[in-house]
Amino acid sequence: MALPFAKSLCFCPITASNCLALNQIQNHLEMVRKKIVAGNWKMNKSYDEGIALVEQLLDELDMDKVGETHVIISPPSVLLQPITELLMFTPGIAVAAQNCHQEESGAYTGEISARMIKSIDADAVILGHSERREYFKEDDSLIAKKMKAVLANELMVIYCCGESFEERKTGNHIAVVEKQLRTALADFSTKDAENIIVAYEPVWAIGTGEVATVQQAGEMHTHIRKVLADIFGDTSQNMSILYGGSVKPDNAAELFAHPDIDGGLIGGASLKSNDFMSIIYALSK
Ligand code: 13P
Repeated sequence: MALPFAKSLCFCPITASNCLALNQIQNHLEMVRKKIVAGNWKMNKSYDEGIALVEQLLDELDMDKVGETHVIISPPSVLLQPITELLMFTPGIAVAAQNCHQEESGAYTGEISARMIKSIDADAVILGHSERREYFKEDDSLIAKKMKAVLANELMVIYCCGESFEERKTGNHIAVVEKQLRTALADFSTKDAENIIVAYEPVWAIGTGEVATVQQAGEMHTHIRKVLADIFGDTSQNMSILYGGSVKPDNAAELFAHPDIDGGLIGGASLKSNDFMSIIYALSK
């Protein structure tokens, strides 16, 4: 399956005339875990506000400083198509939907399908966000069905997992996240795994200003990597695991310094271009 990211996130400076070298470099790139900062706008920004935010990023983001960090913007559905078009010629910034339905089409009023998201040339879909689990009662078996639809349409998945405050307080956080991963990912192949990004988002840290400590996040990311290795073998080494939950410019660098934290899924701070850019640069260092 072609990696959709190859379209928008190819940083390879080699020309097609040197095929051997190109192949070698691509093979090498495929072996390297991607560093990713993704901005989840949730249900924020009108059409004009969203376009203005992306235009500001396009004007001000210093791509030399961004380096090999991959940036993803995940706006509300009405902004997916115009933002995908705005970013068409900006390698390094991809676009993700925040959800999709598991069926390709049909009588599902209010829903959009992975096929529709693919048809506008977006790159990825966020699935399993705790807000969808909580407010829309999505569980891991439904999320697995959605994931199948997304991968079948050659889009990437950002799969979110994370424990509640209660689950952490009672010491069950590791078991809860492991169960989420094993239930949602059990039926996928190593080939599928190449197109799956995992985001660990402890529910108690989302939108609360209470960020997980590096030790808390690091412990979970290391465990997630072990579980992924158990499910997907060596391929798991190339899977990116992002941290999400109150990431801000002043705590991003410390979190990103952990070897098992490959970037962030950013909510509130992705709505302000300066904050989002600072977080991107924190990962690019
Ligand atoms: P905040 O960064 O606002 O805590 O949100 C995190 C999140 O839910 C991203 O998906």
